[in-house]
Amino acid sequence: MLQKIDPASSKFWGSLASLANNQNGSIKDLFNEPNRVKKLSFQDGDFLFDFSKNSVSSEVLAELLGLAKDCHLKEAIQAQFSGVHINETEDRAVLHTALRDLNTEGKNAEDVRAELKKIEIFSSQLLDGTWKGYSGKSIRDIVNVGIGGSDLGPKMVASALHDKWTTITPHFISNVDASQLLEEVKHLDPETTLFIVASKTFTTQETMTNAETAKAWYLKNGGSKEHIAKHFVAVSTNADAVKDFGIAEENMFIFWDWVGGRYSLWSAIGLGIACSAGYQAFEELLKGGHDMDQHFLHTEMDQNIPVIAALIGIWYNNFLNYESLAILPYDHRLRFLSSYLQQADMESNGKFVGRDGKKIGYQSGPIIWGEPGTNGQHAFYQLIHQGTKIIPTEFIAFVHPGHSHQDHHEKLLANFFAQPEALLNGKSEEQVREEMGASVDEKLVPFKVFEGNRPSTSILIKELTPFNLGKLIAYYEHKIFVQGVIWNIFSFDQWGVELGKQLAKPILSELQGGESGSHDPSTTALIKRFQELRK
Ligand code: F6P
Repeated sequence: MLQKIDPASSKFWGSLASLANNQNGSIKDLFNEPNRVKKLSFQDGDFLFDFSKNSVSSEVLAELLGLAKDCHLKEAIQAQFSGVHINETEDRAVLHTALRDLNTEGKNAEDVRAELKKIEIFSSQLLDGTWKGYSGKSIRDIVNVGIGGSDLGPKMVASALHDKWTTITPHFISNVDASQLLEEVKHLDPETTLFIVASKTFTTQETMTNAETAKAWYLKNGGSKEHIAKHFVAVSTNADAVKDFGIAEENMFIFWDWVGGRYSLWSAIGLGIACSAGYQAFEELLKGGHDMDQHFLHTEMDQNIPVIAALIGIWYNNFLNYESLAILPYDHRLRFLSSYLQQADMESNGKFVGRDGKKIGYQSGPIIWGEPGTNGQHAFYQLIHQGTKIIPTEFIAFVHPGHSHQDHHEKLLANFFAQPEALLNGKSEEQVREEMGASVDEKLVPFKVFEGNRPSTSILIKELTPFNLGKLIAYYEHKIFVQGVIWNIFSFDQWGVELGKQLAKPILSELQGGESGSHDPSTTALIKRFQELRK
């Protein structure tokens, strides 16, 4: 069990609040602290994490570390890794880290290795063309049918590893809106397509509906029931439901209840990664995640990269009242990272009830959003630079691109370096006037001023390898964990997704001709208008 400690009862909470109230210097001023860049930059393997452009002084950081200690963070980390049921409301362990610990002993490790072997064999057969479809042709396209954690993780990683695709192209269908499925299958050939139905529970409405429609598409376009095993496999913890769907047991890949949906890309849910980028890449991804686990487990708190990142986030969220965090990868390959992190972070830490069952009296998880640079620069960066809200930002880039167009890459990286610099330094009235020279137009001066003093973190990585990607994802997972521990919430359940699902059930029956239910007046009017218009 994790301890139930109200962080606001820590003396450090009070001192942080008064530091926030009395904060008057700028981030630029903080660079007067000796060795600031050195103290707040962490080099680890191919990574450089630079936290120095954040509005956090050494004094604030020391208090935050005190808060972490008061919240028994070290003990919580140990509890997680040792398999204590820290997901208390579901009575489960939280052991996605065990999925990437390939050289350990014990029952879980044996199960993990056995499943990995199965993934290795299957993905190799698909990629080398020995797995044949019903007409004897090799598979060329795989379609992952899943949603949430059974979609976002594999989609983000498989897309990021596009350089490694060879004979198989992965596709992803998640939305219950059939438009997505129809758009995807339009260019697919059932003879050479294999569907991976990915669902931890195998009851999720969107996934089951899409899987049935995919099956119907396959049958309608030449596939036969007899050969369904050649075109449908499943990943789930629910063997009975998989069997009921008609997928053979030998075509089922399993994982376990100690793997949360949004932390499951490391399990067989990552099958689409192995089947597109290759098994070797999948294993490298696991090793990268494990490398960050080791850092997280064994590094002192004041040098611990996910801990430092989490504490800075707490300072912003709870003391400076910054409500969101923008994730800005300067790499097209990471274009799905922010939506992946939206689930990882917001489904984990978007909670208002503490571990003691009482409403918490402070803010929990921030709003996560973002787009790859430089696209974002031409869309929402205006607000980040000159808006009234302060948006902490995380910039991510790779030294070596996955292509040979150096000119593109240098331009991309020039922007990666320039944006945080602009956010930090801004541009004063004097500078604006100086730039305008003799022809200064006083009316325009205020509009051209950038106040600066806007915080950012820069993460510079040598190259986008599966290993480094695994490490980056694990960094975010641990950061989320640390924040959840300090906010005294349960980060590994997701009761907040249930109510909408529950209400949709009777409404669906209503839309399908059943009796009208009782709703609030607005919903009643909306459904009524829908019924009128659909006639
Ligand atoms: O509704 C939210 C959720 O339960 C997520 O936590 C999960 O990742 C997603 O649905 C999909 O669930 P499943 O893998 O069981 O289909």
